[in-house]
Amino acid sequence: MFTSLVEKLTLVLSLCVAFVYAVPAFEGISTWSSIGNLVPGITFLEAIGPEGAGSDTANIPNYLSILSPRGLPGNATIYRNRSPPLFYIHQNNLWHFHNESTILPVQVHNSTLTSKLPLQVVVGEKDPKLARRTLVKEGQWRWQGTMLRYEQGSSSVPLFYSCQDTNGLMGLFLFTEPAPPPGGCTPFTLHSFNRAKNIPNS
Ligand SMILES: *[C@@H]1O[C@H](CO)[C@@H](O)[C@H](O)[C@H]1NC(C)=O
Ligand SMILES: *[C@@H]1O[C@H](CO)[C@@H](O)[C@H](O)[C@H]1NC(C)=O
Ligand SMILES: *[C@@H]1O[C@H](CO)[C@@H](O)[C@H](O)[C@H]1NC(C)=O
Repeated sequence: MFTSLVEKLTLVLSLCVAFVYAVPAFEGISTWSSIGNLVPGITFLEAIGPEGAGSDTANIPNYLSILSPRGLPGNATIYRNRSPPLFYIHQNNLWHFHNESTILPVQVHNSTLTSKLPLQVVVGEKDPKLARRTLVKEGQWRWQGTMLRYEQGSSSVPLFYSCQDTNGLMGLFLFTEPAPPPGGCTPFTLHSFNRAKNIPNS
């Protein structure tokens, strides 16, 4: 049990190192506006929270990131990412754009299947059978200015919590019902400060 946790953490650490040294995902696409032409409204999602600007951990902002090798499904997570992934909203769905052939949905899962714990943000489907069981289907994503909101029924959520999941890895969670901030978690809002604006109807 302990060994497997250590192995997982080692894997995650090596993935983080791989991210830091990863080559840019957009070979052959040289400017921000040409990416915007390819995918209207595409953006990094900067995470603003209590450990945001002004922290001593330097100039790399926190970004919505994915806990997996590039292009593969994984749980959403937040860290100071030198090479953050790209996202866009189309018809109230949020997508992660890896390349022209790999575009993954960003979805909310009732992953703990208990009413006490919050919902988890997951990118793509690793195990479609499991995913179908826990997927929250009614949700929608939208921009409020630069800020991302998750909406479900009558609730509209701007706040996401970075917490340890059941494996001890950092995941991203949210509440659609009013609830006190979960202990040991860090609240963040997510922003599209650099959203490509050159094409309408994103
Ligand atoms: C897109 O990314 C996937 C996963 O990394 C890779 O297998 C595929 O070859 C890439 N496709 C293109 C068009 O670059
Ligand atoms: C996401 O996190 C859950 C724990 O909440 C874990 O069971 C699951 O395996 C993770 N999914 C992926 C794709 O890593
Ligand atoms: C998650 O699933 C449990 C069990 O089915 C349910 O009681 C709870 O209301 C669900 N939570 C949300 C926020 O949908």
